[in-house]
Amino acid sequence: MASAAVPRFPPGFLWGVSTSAHQIEGGADERAPSVWDAFTAEPGRVRDGSTAAVACDHYHRYREDVALLRDLGVGAYRFSVSWPRAESPGGLGFYDRLVDELCAAGVRPVPTLFHWDLPLALEETGGWLRRATAEEFARYAGRVADHLGDRVRTWITLNEPAEHTLLGHALGVHAPGRALLLDALPAAHHQLLAHGLAVRALRAVGITDVGIANSHGPVWPASQDPEDTAAAELYDLLLNRLFADPLLLGRYPEELAELLPDGAAADLETIAEPLDWYGVNYYAPTKVGAPRGTETVHSGLRLPAGLPFSVREIEGYPRTDYGWPVVPEALTALLTGFRERYGDRLPPVVITENGCSYEGVDDQERIAFLAAHIRALHAAVEAGVDVRGYFVWSLLDNFEWAEGYTRRFGLVHVDRETLERTPKASYAWFREVLRAQR
Ligand code: NOJ
Repeated sequence: MASAAVPRFPPGFLWGVSTSAHQIEGGADERAPSVWDAFTAEPGRVRDGSTAAVACDHYHRYREDVALLRDLGVGAYRFSVSWPRAESPGGLGFYDRLVDELCAAGVRPVPTLFHWDLPLALEETGGWLRRATAEEFARYAGRVADHLGDRVRTWITLNEPAEHTLLGHALGVHAPGRALLLDALPAAHHQLLAHGLAVRALRAVGITDVGIANSHGPVWPASQDPEDTAAAELYDLLLNRLFADPLLLGRYPEELAELLPDGAAADLETIAEPLDWYGVNYYAPTKVGAPRGTETVHSGLRLPAGLPFSVREIEGYPRTDYGWPVVPEALTALLTGFRERYGDRLPPVVITENGCSYEGVDDQERIAFLAAHIRALHAAVEAGVDVRGYFVWSLLDNFEWAEGYTRRFGLVHVDRETLERTPKASYAWFREVLRAQR
């Protein structure tokens, strides 16, 4: 078996696990609808035809889940606030109860304010294609922070605006199901603007610990053929630099300027509001080549023919049950590359998600995956990257978006019939890791 050993991290390093509201809460009839409720109601959108109406029923079982967090011994728990719930009568009361329970268990609450479940009413007026949604978000963010800020110190504005743009607005395989290809970039800009305005709204109520959770990963060209390297560069621009450059350097990549809304440059100062730390969600690198002129399928995703690149399978590495390649060393390369590109503009980094889908409760593969990635993270620390935390995705098996319940990312197994929680081998292993780090 691959080694499960983990080196020692600097004192104060924050260990945690992550979830998101739509993926675990359920309790859907006790809040306004979101874009995901509408999307999953359309036949054929979700692999197993499921919805997240019940999900893990965390909305009613949060006490049991907080007990699992306490027994695991994590320092922090990253969850998300459902915007439609927060806007529903009494909705913030749930987060009061959750936060109080976490504080009593000695686990730091780390809420994300947007993890893809936009209120449906806002989608109906244009969603992220409309600038006013950014302003609405800032108002909502300020209201939630004002409400929970007496107990919650650490905040995350957005989760993975890159994936929400790509999957939800360019390819249409996630809610809200828009397939705009490169015309989706206004959705990216408005999310980034929403982030910047929300940072200001949080500062205004006294919050001093704010980050964002962005998905990043190295992009490998399919070959050294100039057509492949050009396609890979474009993909790297869209996944990595479109989000990190404006946040950290206060500018958009020139190559993408024409695809952004008119006047986008005037928002850069807002977008680049200084952050206390920068969150990175890392799963795997992507191999990209020239367009092939036909639809391609990548990790279960249908990529249409009209894209200016094609995604290729990565050979020669083990794969998770999702089919994603397992390449821990790419995490080290990603972080040292960030440090080189952004230098002192890069605030301390927190890995806000890392994990894998495997079946079974004796999940030795997950242990090997996590151990290898934590070692790769440590290598980045040794190479001089200031990394302050690491969060496993996820505490529970949950609703994996268009994959429904067919992918299990949890340290804790959730029975789909009874919703019974069973800690997996990886849970016991991670608990020992955390104990040894104390
Ligand atoms: C990133 C997303 O933030 C999360 O919602 C998702 O479940 C994981 N990746 C795994 O795909």
